[in-house]
Amino acid sequence: MKQLVINAFGGPEQLQLVETDHTPLASNQVRVKMRYAGVNPIDAKTRAGLGWGAEAIKDRLPWSPGFEVMGEVLEVGSEVCRFMPGDRVFGLVAGGAYGEELVANCDDLIPVPDEVTDSMAGGLALAGTTAWQALDRYGLLQQGERVLISAAAGGVGHLAVQLAKAQGATVVALASSDNHDFVKALGADEVVDYHDEAAVAAISPVDLFLDLVGGTSGESLLSQVKPNGRVVTVPTITADKVMTAAAQRGIKATGMLKENNQDHLVLLAEAVAQGRLKVEISRVFELADGAEAHRQIETGHTRGKILLRG
Ligand SMILES: NC(=O)c1ccc[n+]([C@@H]2O[C@H](COP(=O)([O-])OP(=O)(O)OC[C@H]3O[C@@H](n4cnc5c(N)ncnc54)[C@H](OP(=O)(O)O)[C@@H]3O)[C@@H](O)[C@H]2O)c1
Repeated sequence: MKQLVINAFGGPEQLQLVETDHTPLASNQVRVKMRYAGVNPIDAKTRAGLGWGAEAIKDRLPWSPGFEVMGEVLEVGSEVCRFMPGDRVFGLVAGGAYGEELVANCDDLIPVPDEVTDSMAGGLALAGTTAWQALDRYGLLQQGERVLISAAAGGVGHLAVQLAKAQGATVVALASSDNHDFVKALGADEVVDYHDEAAVAAISPVDLFLDLVGGTSGESLLSQVKPNGRVVTVPTITADKVMTAAAQRGIKATGMLKENNQDHLVLLAEAVAQGRLKVEISRVFELADGAEAHRQIETGHTRGKILLRG
């Protein structure tokens, strides 16, 4: 089967489509035919040799990216597993979704509801889990609070806008002007162009700031947070920097790493099935065009999600 792998850290051109052998199934695993794999910033950062992801795999190259997948079950391990061949499944996996097939733990996948399309499920698990956990578990968002969401048009952000709105929050979204209609249609109450410093400075203080950009952007937006407000800074590479800057202002900031949680996947899938949550798929690339997909995610200006098709 064909698989996109890197043999060394570097640019998008490191991604090579190669023929790989079938991995034998352990008793608690399933073989899945990939239909869609989400392309996320972590894939490109790890490919480039950055952050915790690269640290974890540096002695295990070649490595195949891809942490979220939607596909069809082909084969089930010997232990009783709730799936049958032919089932549509999706979820978070430990890498390797950039291939025609992958082996995943049964417990990492859940069924795709009939009402949810293959592509929406393919882009939901990683960004959705992150958005939900950032707002609920780490951000402790309450009905009636004001929440500022940076990168509101991106993979995590466009889902966070919808989830925060559904929680009864007033959503202040930061996006380039080209994305304002898109973000308003998702439910944002106030939309501000982050390039316009005066407009950003005029934002009324918020209870919660969901920082999806990190670094100097995350630090400078701390001035829009109420003195007793909260910050969740999601990009891990700059989390310490933003948390330190927040502490100097007396604001509580938390970094996070999304956790694979089946209950959260079920909740997200139900929200999509019932039409309460929409996954925007802005572009689909063929597996052979993985390098092009990485160039797109590395622009930092992707609207919603991009996917690879199996
Ligand atoms: N800790 C975790 O567990 C975890 C999980 C998931 C993601 N992450 C991290 O969270 C970050 C966001 O992920 P993502 O998938 O949402 O990324 P993404 O889809 O690539 O985000 C793209 C969006 O970023 C916006 N943007 C770029 N620069 C900006 C700025 N200076 N201010 C405001 N918005 C800006 C763009 O807006 P415009 O196009 O409108 O300019 C675009 O809509 C990434 O760093 C990712 O690695 C961490």
